[in-house]
Amino acid sequence: MTSPYLIYGANGYTGELIAREAVRRGQHPVLAGRNREAVRSLGSELRLEHRVFVLDDSRAVDEGLKGMTAVLHCAGPFVHTFRPMADACLRAKTHYLDVTGEIDVYEPLAARDAEARAAGVMLLPGVGFDVVPSDCLAAHLKQRLPGATHLFLAFHSVGGLSRGTATTMVENLHRGGLVRRDGMLTAVPAGWRTRRVDFGRGPRTVVSIPWGDVSMAYHSTGIPNIEDYTTATGPLLLAMKTSRLLRPLLANSAVQSFLKRRVRSGAPGPNAEQRARGRTVFWGEVTDEAGGRAASRLYGPEGYTLTTLTALAAVEKVLSGAAPPGFQTPAKAYGPDFVLGVEGVSREDL
Ligand SMILES: NC(=O)c1ccc[n+]([C@@H]2O[C@H](COP(=O)([O-])OP(=O)(O)OC[C@H]3O[C@@H](n4cnc5c(N)ncnc54)[C@H](OP(=O)(O)O)[C@@H]3O)[C@@H](O)[C@H]2O)c1
Repeated sequence: MTSPYLIYGANGYTGELIAREAVRRGQHPVLAGRNREAVRSLGSELRLEHRVFVLDDSRAVDEGLKGMTAVLHCAGPFVHTFRPMADACLRAKTHYLDVTGEIDVYEPLAARDAEARAAGVMLLPGVGFDVVPSDCLAAHLKQRLPGATHLFLAFHSVGGLSRGTATTMVENLHRGGLVRRDGMLTAVPAGWRTRRVDFGRGPRTVVSIPWGDVSMAYHSTGIPNIEDYTTATGPLLLAMKTSRLLRPLLANSAVQSFLKRRVRSGAPGPNAEQRARGRTVFWGEVTDEAGGRAASRLYGPEGYTLTTLTALAAVEKVLSGAAPPGFQTPAKAYGPDFVLGVEGVSREDL
């Protein structure tokens, strides 16, 4: 593989996992980020070229992207970082991929579809755990029931959270829930609904969350009603209900800073042993007006391992020439079976 690509945020927990796996596969990505010492040190350990630039200097970003076929953007929370990177990618005619799960990134990128098509550039956010597996599952279910009007997705994850993921969650705690209703993103209370889902070991309670699919699966499938769920423990349900009352407090910048400091004092993310022990299961169901129903499950490795593998699978597609211009979702760009090419992933129709 000769086409050069750049990993921005390479010194972060997720960026570093991806960089190390890329090297294991014999690739030579350019590593980049804003932290000179951390990026230099990783670059020299992995014997990779490195570039240091900040995102609020557009000339520096243009310089940083020189000669790159694609960028795999790993610096989040992405709501603060995607715009300058996507702008620079459109100027440089470099394909943009990221590992965000943030709806506030997906929707503005979707709105730039025509601009990206005109530039011949692919904008493909969400190439990680959120949303490759669930997006591919949604597209698979749409194929099984083409007239589907409702899509329900749920995941069960065993593993831990990285500091970056927890920071992104802190920024969104006060925002309540979100579903897709009649094609529109619609606000609902936090922990709005629960239901029972069988991930393969008997029914479990799941609770609704504002997950990326309520945005992306609509772009992939056109199904107008979408709800996302995750397994609910007692404390999670209580925290969600309490957050309804504490919304103004959770939006307060001093409270957010306090919570982010707590996050930063923890471990960067699950260690190798925790990642090896972890696993994920995705469940999806579609229904139509005639009473039709289809359901499927997808099994995969732990979330950050999965993110590493799906992100590199997407990069490898791009470097082999598969980069349809415009705004893309993983399933739109590469089809429902894309995720089945990832090591450790399997699907079962129920
Ligand atoms: N959707 C998914 O499935 C998925 C999976 C994994 C991660 N993520 C997301 O990816 C993001 C990173 O996670 P992580 O665990 O790698 O976090 P992390 O360890 O905290 O690393 C964050 C990286 O982003 C960089 N960064 C943050 N803000 C920046 C800014 N304004 N300008 C330039 N660089 C900036 C950091 O640089 P410094 O070191 O200089 O601060 C660091 O390199 C999070 O938003 C997380 O939610 C999503």
